[in-house]
Amino acid sequence: MSREDPKSKLWGGRFSEPTDAFVQAFTASVDFDRRLYRHDIEGSRAHARMLARVGVLTEAECQKIVDGLDDIQADIERGEFAWLTELEDVHMNIEARLTDRIGAVGKKLHTGRSRNDQVATDVRLWLREQIDLLQAEIRRLQTGLLDLAEREADTILPGFTHLQVAQPVSFGHHMLAWFEMLDRDHERLADCRKRVNVMPLGSAALAGTSYPLDRHYTAELLGFLRPTRNSLDAVSDRDFAIEFTAAGALVMMHLSRMAEELILWASAQFGFVDLPDRFCTGSSIMPQKKNPDVPELVRGKSGRVYGHLMSLLTLMKSQPLAYNKDNQEDKEPLFDTVDTLAGSLRAFADMVPHIELRRERMYAAAQQGFSTATDLADYLVRKGLPFRDAHEVVGKAVRFGVEQGRDLSQMSVEELRQFSDTIDEDVFQVLTPEGSMAARDIEGGTAPAQVRRQIAAARERLGI
Ligand code: ARG
Repeated sequence: MSREDPKSKLWGGRFSEPTDAFVQAFTASVDFDRRLYRHDIEGSRAHARMLARVGVLTEAECQKIVDGLDDIQADIERGEFAWLTELEDVHMNIEARLTDRIGAVGKKLHTGRSRNDQVATDVRLWLREQIDLLQAEIRRLQTGLLDLAEREADTILPGFTHLQVAQPVSFGHHMLAWFEMLDRDHERLADCRKRVNVMPLGSAALAGTSYPLDRHYTAELLGFLRPTRNSLDAVSDRDFAIEFTAAGALVMMHLSRMAEELILWASAQFGFVDLPDRFCTGSSIMPQKKNPDVPELVRGKSGRVYGHLMSLLTLMKSQPLAYNKDNQEDKEPLFDTVDTLAGSLRAFADMVPHIELRRERMYAAAQQGFSTATDLADYLVRKGLPFRDAHEVVGKAVRFGVEQGRDLSQMSVEELRQFSDTIDEDVFQVLTPEGSMAARDIEGGTAPAQVRRQIAAARERLGI
């Protein structure tokens, strides 16, 4: 019987004419879902073992099936497996091949199972593994940031609000801000993983199965936390994929913010950092150019993941219980989300340790824009002025500085005393960027001593 014959399809029994060729191609998913082959086989092995345990298969039948699946996996990994569109998806390709290889006993594997609970299980197994890999990449990037923060705890960077110079901060402190964003991303993935890590097998098509399956045993074999509690829900909902993509969208949002800062900092106008040549490219027409392509691409790729989140939400919206073919559309957005995250995190983790700082440029920028004006106001408060009056005094001093083209620290005591006679020589200790930074010696603040405390605490917490 040829594969074209409707009877050759695993569901062909009730059909009297072959599937329209276009419809066959249109409904097939094997071109993309073959990516799940390893998890599909892993799920099938566990299902077969469980069937033997409860007596639905004999030990010999189970062994034949497990060996056959192992051989198929080896074929796929050697590139010797012909994926057929006629067989629609990864599940039926593998199952049909199993029967070709081991004979009729292969047909028993699908006992008490449907592709509906099978695919939901496969995607969960696959995503669980991907989450682990992504979390490891986040940690690798975080480690790079911690090392950089440690090395540059004393380095002065102008801190910005509204992209206007605000107050001097430690470059290490800025790296720790990025670190914290990623820490929450890591936590969100860990939380999402708990809801990914439950097992639909045993839900069958939608209602459960009449075979005495031991779902807890299968779950244990596959390392799932527990079997799902409702068969209708288990085969139909893809909220776990949506939740993952939402967490992924936040990762990309964070990376896009880091990317944006690196792009600005690498520009001639800022000149705060040099990105390694191997992470940049040139222009085919302008010989002087060195473009920050990697951060720009990461910034741009955030859009894809936001789009996938919207696709998946819309895919799920208003779907009646239980499984609908709509759900086959969950895979491409999910796969691309994982690929985009993996690539972007990898690029950043590889690049971050090699960013070169132009400390003198950052220092000079921190001395512009009256970044220590708040320190002068705080100084006046310590001398007894109410904060609002101090604010007014410093405002006048800044106006004078703007007219003269000089920073507060570049004025003489006499000049400063025009605005308040409480000002003495000791004012210069607070008017330097170093003094300003060191003064913010509060938990979570930018004083290098605090930055070092946070680094030590993070290392302890993460074991890195
Ligand atoms: N390829 C399908 C999917 O990804 C597998 C489940 C098909 N189930 C069905 N009843 N047609 O969703």
